[in-house]
Formats: sequence, structure tokens, C-alpha cells
Amino acid sequence: MMTEPLADDFGREETGALSDDFGREVTGVRISLTDRCNFDCIYCHNEGLGDTRGPMEPEDDEMTADEVVRFLEVVEEYGVRKAKFTGGEPMLRGDLEEIVRRTPDSMETSLTTNGTFLPGRAEALREAGLERVNVSQDALDPEAFAEITKSGAYDRVLEGVDAALDAGLDPVKLNMVVFEHTAGYVEDMVYHVAENEGLQLQLIEYMPELTGRPEWSIDIQRVHDWLADIADRIEHREMHDRKRYFVNGGMIEIVDPVENEEFCANCGRVRVTHEGYLKGCLNRNDDLRPMGEMSREEIREAYEETVANRVPYYGEYLKKNGSGEYEINERYIEAPKSTTSD
Ligand code: 5AD
Repeated sequence: MMTEPLADDFGREETGALSDDFGREVTGVRISLTDRCNFDCIYCHNEGLGDTRGPMEPEDDEMTADEVVRFLEVVEEYGVRKAKFTGGEPMLRGDLEEIVRRTPDSMETSLTTNGTFLPGRAEALREAGLERVNVSQDALDPEAFAEITKSGAYDRVLEGVDAALDAGLDPVKLNMVVFEHTAGYVEDMVYHVAENEGLQLQLIEYMPELTGRPEWSIDIQRVHDWLADIADRIEHREMHDRKRYFVNGGMIEIVDPVENEEFCANCGRVRVTHEGYLKGCLNRNDDLRPMGEMSREEIREAYEETVANRVPYYGEYLKKNGSGEYEINERYIEAPKSTTSD
């Protein structure tokens, strides 16, 4: 069988990954396997698609396992080395183990989950080749947890974290969105990961862009300052513009993308919606690109165009005006450029 020549005119660099016009290599994909979820977290950005949640039954708009695997095989050719499965709640897919098993071996495979389905399945996922999980845990307090997630499954989530650790899916990263409702629980969570082997904490700045409740934002700098004060050691990962704090042997990372031009300048991932649309930026919905019937050729074409049209959100798509506020850069108000005609 003939293999496609690699598209050198796309700025392919030594790593083999495609780069966009801003020199950002795409090395990871984040694939939403469903937008169904058994939680209803009040902060949820739902992958930037607005509230599309529906019934819990499998839906026929979701990509099939074959389609997901075909997509992964194609982007493997383009140097993508990381696949993260997400949702909705990706574990609502009964064929998740199959998808993980069929993910190309060259890819680091991880999952973002609310954890409730990990008991009983963590082992099989690990055996299928899953390397890591992020479990959303926004508070160490059952009542606060219920209020934030609109779910009473707190104990089940803790069991899920243990199941992941028992299965060897470590380190388990606990995702905690820091906003008005959770800010008071950050301290407990920091000591919780310090005291429990195998856990790391990922504090994620609440992203108001997609939720319609900007007033819930808190000043993430205060969390940085507090951690800097109590940390034994601090690391700055330039590549992702993420800071890591080590407190009593626990590792805490802050992910703060809001109005962070450095963060966008280092973004190396493309997203895929559960319906099989490519998406170059979490914060945008005007850049969805269908992959047709998802033949290899259609996937290639759509992927190349998506990468070619990727634009850093803060600093390029949004630019600061004279009074220091972000505004849409006029350039992106017209139609997107086509890779075939210019
Ligand atoms: N702000 C920040 N992070 C969010 N997540 C979902 N919605 C938001 C938001 N508005 C993150 C959480 C969750 C993961 C699936 O997405 O960390 O764990």
C-alpha cells in the first residue's frame, strides 16, 4: 500500500509534528468521546460547546470506536504523540477499553474522568494501555462536592481514585477548578495530596469564557502567592507556562490559561468533538471543522486545515486595545483562510 508523502509545506519540523503559523507544533489531541455526563458541574465548559447534554443512552451522533481509531492512526503520521480522552464523561462509553487498546502504541494515553466508573474498570483500562487519569475532584467535603457537581457520588469518586491507584494508573492527577465555590477547599486538597502517595493536584483556574458566570472567577495570583509561601520548592515549566509547587512532598500544579498569552503561545493540542469535528481552540466555536465521513483522506485534509488555521486565543485572536481590554482581532472576523487557494 502506498503511504502518503508528508506535507513538508506545512512547516514540519524535526519532531515530525505539524506547526501552525505561530510556530506551535501540534503534539497532542484531546478527543471528546461523548457529551453525555452523569454529573452536572456548575462550572462545566462542556468542551466549549455550550449545554448540549442530553439523555444517558448512547447517541448516534457520537464517533464510533473505528472512527476514533482511524483518526488517531492518521494523526500519528503527523507526529501526534499524546491522546487524551474526555467527555462529557468518557467512561459512559462502554467501548472505551477497546478504543484505548486500539490507540497507536506510540501515543501516551490518558483520560479525564469524574471517577465514578473507575471502580471495576480501572484495571481493564490499565491493561488496555491507559497510562494516566485525571479525576475531577473539586472539594474534600461531601456537601460542597454535591453542590458543585449536582451529584451525590462523592464516596464513589474517592473509590474511583483508589481503584486507579490500585491499578497502577499513577500518578493520579486530581483536577480542581478554583472558583468562588471551591477557593475555601484549596488548602485541604493541598494537604490531601501531600498525605496520599500517588496523588497530584492540578489547580485549574476557572475559565469564565464559556460559562456565562464571570463573577465566579477568583484571583488565581493569590493561590500562587499562598503556595509560594508554603512550598519547599517551585518549578516553572516554561513549555506549558505552568508552575509546580512542592508542599510536604506533594506536588501541586496551577493551570491558569485565562488572559494568559504565554499559555496560548505554548498550546500544542487540537481537540475533536464527540461528533467528530476538529477544533483548534477550546475557547472558540467558529473554528469547528467537519471530517466528512472520516475517511483517512478526509481526516488528513481537515486536520491539516485545522492546524493551518490555529491561532493563539489570547494575544492574537483576542488582542488588547488601548484601554487594556481584550477585543477580537479584526483579521478574524472575516472568513478563515483556505489552505488550498492561497
Ligand atoms: N474552567 C476550568 N476548568 C474547567 N473544566 C471544565 N469546565 C471548566 C471551567 N469552566 C475542566 C475541569 C474538569 C475537566 C474535564 O475540565 O478540570 O476536570
